[in-house]
Amino acid sequence: MPIHEIRHPLIRHKLGLMRRAELSTKNFREMSQEIAALLTYEATKDLPLEPDVAQGWCGDVQVEKLAGKKVTVVPILRAGMGMLEGVLMLVPGAKVSVVGIARNEETLQAHTYVEKLVGGLDQRLALIIDPMLATGGSMVATIDMLKKAGCKHIRALVLVAAPVGIEAVEKAHPDVHIYTASVDSHLDENGYIVPGLGDAGDRIFGTR
Ligand code: PRP
Ligand code: URA
Repeated sequence: MPIHEIRHPLIRHKLGLMRRAELSTKNFREMSQEIAALLTYEATKDLPLEPDVAQGWCGDVQVEKLAGKKVTVVPILRAGMGMLEGVLMLVPGAKVSVVGIARNEETLQAHTYVEKLVGGLDQRLALIIDPMLATGGSMVATIDMLKKAGCKHIRALVLVAAPVGIEAVEKAHPDVHIYTASVDSHLDENGYIVPGLGDAGDRIFGTR
């Protein structure tokens, strides 16, 4: 199944705090990064390893290290920045590819305004991060962009996902697995996820 709802108690608890409209910007930011780290742990469970030898205190020790080119993390501006530190805490060597996509609030169409991708994408796993998967327009546009640049292994980490957004990603890109803290009920008439978190970008940047 390409959708993974991670129902870990720490995630459930932190998401419950984020649902509170009165949560401060500081705490909302912290929870975003912490849940992002927990989702990263799940989304990287099958990263390939290769054998290595470490010079330990009592001589050579057989160990393992991550194989292949480094992961690239792909925050979708601007709200995706609110998850970046959490991902990098677990994958500190990752390269960051920044994608700027905003959805038009009336048409809900995704519009690209930044595309700054790292090289060697054909050999990297890309972890796209964005707190909200609503209609799926922003995520599908980002995956289209990464695939056009040669990327073959892509996963998406979102705090909250709406069923319609999941369907849109599954239909356009069935190979892309989505990791989320919650599959929510539906979108309202303005394209907001219900119950959702409200406007995640505004809550992370304090612009509401
Ligand atoms: C939000 C959110 C996603 C997008 C989801 O960003 O962070 O990127 O909407 O909606 P979709 O699935 O319908 O495309 P927004 O466009 O509000 O920009 P922001 O990150 O600058 O706040
Ligand atoms: N973007 C948000 O920030 N929140 C939503 O509910 C939908 C899109």
